[in-house]
Amino acid sequence: MTSHAHAHAAHAHDHTHTHTHTHAHQESVGSTPGADPDDGPAEILDLDAELFAAHLTSVTDRIADLATGAVTHVVDLGAGTGTGTFALLARFPAARVTAVDSSAAMLARLAGAARAKGLGDRVRTLEADAGAGLPGIEDADLVWASASLHHLDDPARALAGIRDALRPGGLLAVAELDGMPRFLPDDAVTDGPGLEARCREALSALHAERLPHMGADWGVLLAAAGLTVEQERTDRFELRAPLPAGTGRYAHLVLDRVRGAVDGLVSAADLTALDTLLDGGAQDVRHRDDLVVRSVRQTWLARRPEVRP
Ligand SMILES: C[S@@+](CC[C@H](N)C(=O)[O-])C[C@H]1O[C@@H](n2cnc3c(N)ncnc32)[C@H](O)[C@@H]1O
Repeated sequence: MTSHAHAHAAHAHDHTHTHTHTHAHQESVGSTPGADPDDGPAEILDLDAELFAAHLTSVTDRIADLATGAVTHVVDLGAGTGTGTFALLARFPAARVTAVDSSAAMLARLAGAARAKGLGDRVRTLEADAGAGLPGIEDADLVWASASLHHLDDPARALAGIRDALRPGGLLAVAELDGMPRFLPDDAVTDGPGLEARCREALSALHAERLPHMGADWGVLLAAAGLTVEQERTDRFELRAPLPAGTGRYAHLVLDRVRGAVDGLVSAADLTALDTLLDGGAQDVRHRDDLVVRSVRQTWLARRPEVRP
């Protein structure tokens, strides 16, 4: 993977929790799909942020509880559209964020959103391979890596770079999810029992090949990198109606990508069942009012020791 860095001024402990949440009706996040090839994934990230906003707040609250000293420099590693960047700017009013991503399109979108929110002067974007270290950064109070570490070629090398970017006593927050969320209620008839489970199984095989670090035990890897794991937590979500207005769109975007990925890996009957969830008809996920969003999200909060062990 290339190691390039372009800066752009952009104006534990083991706990398992189960949540059954409901959401007040909200407008979907405004986005402009279609203008850029990265818009599909970007819109998925924005809709995910909307659906799991309460979870994000709970994680940033836990970070604030653990933080020692002021949080003035945050690094958002694999920042995407800025879900973590904006949540952390809100949670830590004295902070500025360096948003790192290997995708120029994601960073351009993030920088635009920062300007639109009047936060441009608190966000710097850095186009770089997060796996290749964070040269020039050694004062971070907090590094946030959400759904990004599993993309990196060599997690041990990446974590060494993150450790060196943190000030002594600084925190690393890692968030990962168990693959694609599920959307269908248990008694959904059109999909045939177990459709989503079979798709997830097929995707797991693909991920094992293409994203071998997905599902890694990050607690072990963090400790091996010389970080002290202070919290490790698993949250199991089952979000039911009323759900935010963008939920159907989110399910459609995700299942459409799944449909593309599992073509040839699941049976023709399963592909047909997936099509009925996407084709604009009565069973389409954008029209159903019975979606149940299931997702398992893990977080690890670790600290760079004051004195290296
Ligand atoms: C699943 S998205 C997560 C985005 C965001 N952290 C969130 O939670 O919404 C993964 C992000 O990591 C970025 N990424 C993938 N490989 C990377 C690498 N080697 N260096 C930096 N960013 C990378 C992708 O471009 C994408 O924006």
